[in-house]
Amino acid sequence: MSWVTKTLSSTLGKKLLMALTGLFLILFLVVHLIGNLQLLLPDNGESFNLYAESMATNPLIKVVSIGNFAFIILHVIYSILLTRHNKKSRPIGYAETAASTNSAWSSRNMGILGTLILIFLLVHLKGFYYEIKFGEVPMVDYAGIMYKNVFAIVAAAYSNVFYVVFYVISMGFLGFHLSHGFASAFQTLGLNHVKYSPLIQKVGIGFSILIPALFALIPIVMYIQSV
Ligand code: HEM
Repeated sequence: MSWVTKTLSSTLGKKLLMALTGLFLILFLVVHLIGNLQLLLPDNGESFNLYAESMATNPLIKVVSIGNFAFIILHVIYSILLTRHNKKSRPIGYAETAASTNSAWSSRNMGILGTLILIFLLVHLKGFYYEIKFGEVPMVDYAGIMYKNVFAIVAAAYSNVFYVVFYVISMGFLGFHLSHGFASAFQTLGLNHVKYSPLIQKVGIGFSILIPALFALIPIVMYIQSV
């Protein structure tokens, strides 16, 4: 067994992989959010459509996109492996638990929160990614060049109140997942220190509120604009 397979099959290796893939996905969320906020510019989707076109045609972004999907799959698989390992190590729970006083609700429910986010992601990818890549997308003319009107697809989706509610609730789950995941990833990587840990905790909480809130704002504003 090579050292790579040995490391990845150890508990620490699995935790490291969860932390590294999680941090990459956090980075993806920031980039994805900045791109998506252009949906709110008052230009009828032009900036967003030009941005979507540049992303779809950039070879580097294509590589990052494959890496992104691979990291999502690895993050899910390793979370299942770790949960199974933890259950096997302690088939009978602690005789006395004071879980609610010893740990935050989100840290005890990362698996459930992760599953709900995965459901959101599948619906999201079907509605946007799949439709934009393989569905019939209306075209729009900017200075004589035809572009996919990705904005129209997103605007149509967010004119449906059920879709908007689904997004907003899912962003709540994402916030709770991040509130534990952010600091936990740093801890696994050994980047905890008496001096810096409180700061990492605070940045993690701020991040887990701000990023999902801004993601949720997009469907809310677009729904209001549609009525
Ligand atoms: C208001 C919120 C969001 C909007 C408007 C939005 C919009 C989009 C659109 C339009 C695409 C297709 C891009 C293309 O193929 O041209 C996409 C892809 C994607 N979105 Fe979102 N998104 C949102 C939130 C999220 C969240 C919260 C996550 C993760 C939890 C996420 C994960 C993804 C992933 C993984 C892809 C595929 C990206 C790739 O090609 O690598 N999105 N999103």
